Amino acid sequence: METRQLTPLDRLLASANNALRTVASPAGKTARANPAAHIIDADLDARQKAHAAGLMRVNHAGEVCAQALYQGHAAVARDKSIEAQMQRAADEEFDHLAWCEERIHELGEDVSKLSPLWYAGSFAIGAVSGILGDRWSLGFIAETEKQVCEHLDNHLDSLPVADAKSRAIVEQMRDEEEEHGEKAAQAGAAELPGPVRQLMQLTAKVMTKTAYYV
Ligand SMILES: [Fe+2]
Ligand SMILES: [Fe+2]
Repeated sequence: METRQLTPLDRLLASANNALRTVASPAGKTARANPAAHIIDADLDARQKAHAAGLMRVNHAGEVCAQALYQGHAAVARDKSIEAQMQRAADEEFDHLAWCEERIHELGEDVSKLSPLWYAGSFAIGAVSGILGDRWSLGFIAETEKQVCEHLDNHLDSLPVADAKSRAIVEQMRDEEEEHGEKAAQAGAAELPGPVRQLMQLTAKVMTKTAYYV
């Protein structure tokens, strides 16, 4: 089959389509089954439920950012194999997004009202770091995924022990984020300067503190 080169307009339309797909609720069909699908829900009290929902809302907001970052990078990636690698990661992140959303609804709450804001901000960061070149955009991804793994480890410590459903989703996400980071490193990621890493941590803190509640 003949493959057509994507024009900048094609890429823009694909990005807009992904943005709508990401912030729409429900997120839509996933490529893989939800790892919590066969787990029976525990009898959580109101406080445990609210805490788990808050953490899963933060994780969902993180996945909105992941969609935007990977799409932002892919939109400006120079190397076709790197673009394809980012697209594959974005597909897995989409499953994470939908699994988190499903769990939030099961816990009786809703996703962050600020999803469009998380998406827009992250897409811009993704595109800007992508414009600096693939080595830097891969460095940005490797560092993001590393920080996300640390953050998911904290959530595994903080989630109610009885909430096996949320835990199964977070555990699978954590394994896959680690793999995304390793693949970015193998593809030639540059190490980001300390101040950039700190700024990323600060930005993530604002997002996680806000999305827990809103
Ligand atoms: Fe993810
Ligand atoms: Fe990831």
